[in-house]
Amino acid sequence: MGEEAIAKVLVFSFPIQGHINPLLQFSKRLISKNVSVTFLTTSSTHNNIIRRSTAGGATALPLSFVPLDDGFEEGHPSTDTSPEYFAKLEENVSRSLSQLISSMEPKPNAVVYDSCSPWILDVCRKYPGVAAASFFTQSSIVNAIYIHFLRGEFKEFQDDVVLPAMPPLKGSDLPVFLYDNNLCRPLFELISSQFVNVDDIDFFLVNSFDELEVEVLEWMKNQWPVKNIGPMIPSMYLDKRLAGDKDYGISLFNAQVNECLDWLDSKPPGSVIYVSFGSLAVLKDDQMIELAAGLKQTGHNFLWVVRETETKKLPSNYIEEIGDRGLIVNWSPQLQVLAHKSIGCFMTHCGWNSTLEALSLGVALIGMPAYSDQPTNAKFIEDVWKVGVRVKADKDGFVTKEEIVRCVGEVMEETSKKGKEIRKNALRLMEFAKEALAEGGNSDKNIDEFVAKIASLLWYEQRENN
Ligand code: UDX
Repeated sequence: MGEEAIAKVLVFSFPIQGHINPLLQFSKRLISKNVSVTFLTTSSTHNNIIRRSTAGGATALPLSFVPLDDGFEEGHPSTDTSPEYFAKLEENVSRSLSQLISSMEPKPNAVVYDSCSPWILDVCRKYPGVAAASFFTQSSIVNAIYIHFLRGEFKEFQDDVVLPAMPPLKGSDLPVFLYDNNLCRPLFELISSQFVNVDDIDFFLVNSFDELEVEVLEWMKNQWPVKNIGPMIPSMYLDKRLAGDKDYGISLFNAQVNECLDWLDSKPPGSVIYVSFGSLAVLKDDQMIELAAGLKQTGHNFLWVVRETETKKLPSNYIEEIGDRGLIVNWSPQLQVLAHKSIGCFMTHCGWNSTLEALSLGVALIGMPAYSDQPTNAKFIEDVWKVGVRVKADKDGFVTKEEIVRCVGEVMEETSKKGKEIRKNALRLMEFAKEALAEGGNSDKNIDEFVAKIASLLWYEQRENN
């Protein structure tokens, strides 16, 4: 950043990969617009995050990292989902953030925070002129479904749900916590908490792009000033305006980069199924064995990410049996993989980042959702955006190998009419994704407007006058 920054922003993310990625990407966009950014990490994760930021240290990214004391002297796993952990995080991070802002002069113009930490609004309110910008890491479709649910417009475990601006939804299309919220009550409560104070926040930022959710976005905008700022993926895959921005910048896992790319280079164009279920999903043992058999049976090449903690579930001798037709890695450079010409389709759990990445790169999808917002994303992938198919599971959620073979055939086979249609739609949406962040695109304009408002305190005057 050559000139003096026009604004200073603090950015806070929950310390998990699926939230760090879009918030870090948003930070880079702000920096490209001459805003200085401090990325706030929890004290438990700070050292790890610094160590894992690419190119040998945090200095490689044009922002500074500051730890907020989360109250765990010995450190604490960020995958903990107990109510005690969330309560302690809220209490300590609120206090520590207050201390940080108090010590700053001039004060930051805004705190951009993960919408799962809505209590940061209360901290911002102690400092007039510090805007509270809530950043939603899931789609407006998913947000709207939660809002309808929390307003009591439908009940948990309901099988048919009709909501404004959406196609009819079956129970199995809803975010998992609404259909089977026994799964993890504290997580359901965390996700619901995103909406407790949306009437009061100063900025409502969503990692999505306008053309993807036209009707729902309009419904949301009738109530809140929702602004899409996505897709928040590295610039090299979109508008290429951020020099050298080809990965997110912090990976909590070690990617087997050369292994993946060399192997992909050896495969014909469009021949590989890329299989990955993100950073958190855990498959049941029997599902893992069935998936392994299904992938083998498709006859296609496949690159499968099986995280280290999951590898013990693979059938014995599997790696020898598949030989060079399959490559199994613990973590991949996902964007580079999706952009590789050998990729024919992406079998995904439909995490929102993976979905946006595939949409931005025009890759056809096979949705195998597991948790949280993923079934809803899968529903829209198949029935609304028509950029993929979704595996049909039985009543216990089990997907057979025959079903996997069927879905792969539909998407990958040259002769499949549906496959052709899917690939065409994927390329069409890819153009919209790229346009959104190109100069003057909707998301780009929304980021410009955000920067202009926080730099001029326009938002503050508007709020005070209301
Ligand atoms: C979760 C939820 O699924 C998601 O819907 C929510 O909004 C954010 O948190 P996760 O399950 O990890 O995240 O999935 P996803 O959102 O797809 O994020 C995973 C990220 O890890 C992606 O950006 C992907 O590119 C990256 N990744 C994944 C890799 O870089 N390599 C891999 O091998 C697998």
